[in-house]
Amino acid sequence: MQYRYSGHSGLQLPVLSLGLWHNFGSVDRHENARAILLRAFEAGITHFDLANNYGPVPGSAEITFGRVLREDLATHRDEMIISSKAGYRMWDGPYGDGGSRKYLMASCDQSLKRTGLDYFDIFYSHRYDPNTPIEETMQALVDIVRSGKALYAGISNYPADKQVECYRYLADAHVPCVLSQYKANMLFTEKLEQNLPLAQQHGSGFICYSPLAQGILTDRYLNGIPEGSRAARPEGYLQREQITDELMAHVRKLNEEAKEQGLTLAQYALRYLLRQEGVTSVIIGASSVEQLDKNLQTISNL
Ligand SMILES: NC(=O)c1ccc[n+]([C@@H]2O[C@H](COP(=O)([O-])OP(=O)(O)OC[C@H]3O[C@@H](n4cnc5c(N)ncnc54)[C@H](OP(=O)(O)O)[C@@H]3O)[C@@H](O)[C@H]2O)c1
Repeated sequence: MQYRYSGHSGLQLPVLSLGLWHNFGSVDRHENARAILLRAFEAGITHFDLANNYGPVPGSAEITFGRVLREDLATHRDEMIISSKAGYRMWDGPYGDGGSRKYLMASCDQSLKRTGLDYFDIFYSHRYDPNTPIEETMQALVDIVRSGKALYAGISNYPADKQVECYRYLADAHVPCVLSQYKANMLFTEKLEQNLPLAQQHGSGFICYSPLAQGILTDRYLNGIPEGSRAARPEGYLQREQITDELMAHVRKLNEEAKEQGLTLAQYALRYLLRQEGVTSVIIGASSVEQLDKNLQTISNL
């Protein structure tokens, strides 16, 4: 594994991080989830990315992670960077969604209980909430850090102007934004153009999610939509309709380019992001140890 400093901080992250959005919920096989987590950690993936709502059911990915931590990795807590987030709808009523202090504080406590952790390494505001003053959301992050419930603060999915406001508020409070999390991949480069330079200017690390476009930038859909794939599963966020002929024609071209360089398409797509200046890490998902192992080979081709 290779590690990079997150922005101007002293925190190093593995270039490949593992996300638990899909494949770690209560609908998934625990033994498979456990095997992926253990293989990842063994390979030097020290960063695990969670959010309150990951599952399904929402919250169950944190429970899965907590169980593996307790049963298999309890003595390794200090070798890991574990993040969670609040921002999207998690529970009914006005306090289970958005960016209010009430929601972030309550959700952080719930996530700590589900994972069994004493603290998160990074706690994020998962999204910008236009109905909450940004000062309120950022002060909640500051207080979560000050109270010892997280070591660092992060933001995700904020539009560029709001992103900069967050950096300023957090810097003034001496809880600098350690990491900014945005969707980025070879098929979706907008955030690399808009948000990455701002993160760099303000000394924040930058971590890309869905680097494989949920599997589209792998060999998964080159010959149709296989059973068990994210696009085929009812709970998957990727919809069948998104796998269009036009898109796949483009993906096939990228696959040819990858082959010419002796890489798999997934490795080519991950390398593309990790070669962008200012990118700290990419958060990959995996539904099997085999996928993870193949993606890990990217490291030797950087
Ligand atoms: N901040 C946010 O708002 C936000 C939003 C989304 C995600 N995230 C974070 O980013 C993480 C990663 O997102 P993602 O799961 O969309 O990432 P991704 O790496 O783009 O997609 C992962 C999926 O691609 C397929 N795959 C991976 N490697 C493969 C290989 N070698 N060959 C064939 N198929 C392969 C698998 O799908 P199959 O199931 O089909 O096998 C896998 O589940 C999430 O877990 C979460 O932590 C954050």
